[in-house]
Amino acid sequence: MLEVRDLHAYYGKSHILQGVNLDVAAGEVVSLLGRNGVGRSTTIKAIMGEVVPRGSIRFKGCEIAGLPSYRIARLGLGYVPENRDIFPTLTVRQNLFLGQKKAGREGRWRLGDMFAMFPNLRERENNVAGVLSGGEKQMLTICRTLMGDPELIMID
Ligand SMILES: Nc1ncnc2c1ncn2[C@@H]1O[C@H](COP(=O)(O)OP(=O)(O)OP(=O)(O)O)[C@@H](O)[C@H]1O
Ligand SMILES: [Mg+2]
Repeated sequence: MLEVRDLHAYYGKSHILQGVNLDVAAGEVVSLLGRNGVGRSTTIKAIMGEVVPRGSIRFKGCEIAGLPSYRIARLGLGYVPENRDIFPTLTVRQNLFLGQKKAGREGRWRLGDMFAMFPNLRERENNVAGVLSGGEKQMLTICRTLMGDPELIMID
């Protein structure tokens, strides 16, 4: 499903990713292990187009290296960022619906599924997301991505 070949990425003059190869097949769970600062987040950001990638990234047979992030997301690649980037002034429910690609279109995951998985979110459904604990924000970030009906999800 995802094939990464000879991926390089830079921050300024720092050459962070130096030829990363990675394959994820349908139904497979792949973990990236390594020391702090080794480049795991950068790998995901480069795949997602948040950091400029050099090399080849194919998703469902399509070359996605260099595409803007929103187009990659619309192809069905979901991304859960490391930094719990929720919308703090919107409610939990509003954050979840923002994850949907098309308003009103139901995907494989529904609001009820999210609340069944994470009852904390149900209890705080109408609270602004900014008051959630760190772990609860992480639950919300994962669920918001699932609401977008991704075919593959990358969790940082
Ligand atoms: N925006 C940035 N500008 C410059 N250097 C950066 C930037 N973001 C990360 N780096 C550097 O790139 C390297 C890889 O960072 P990255 O965040 O990918 O690591 P990581 O494996 O995700 O680590 P962590 O365990 O902290 O999550 C580190 O040396 C880091 O200092
Ligand atoms: Mg990281």
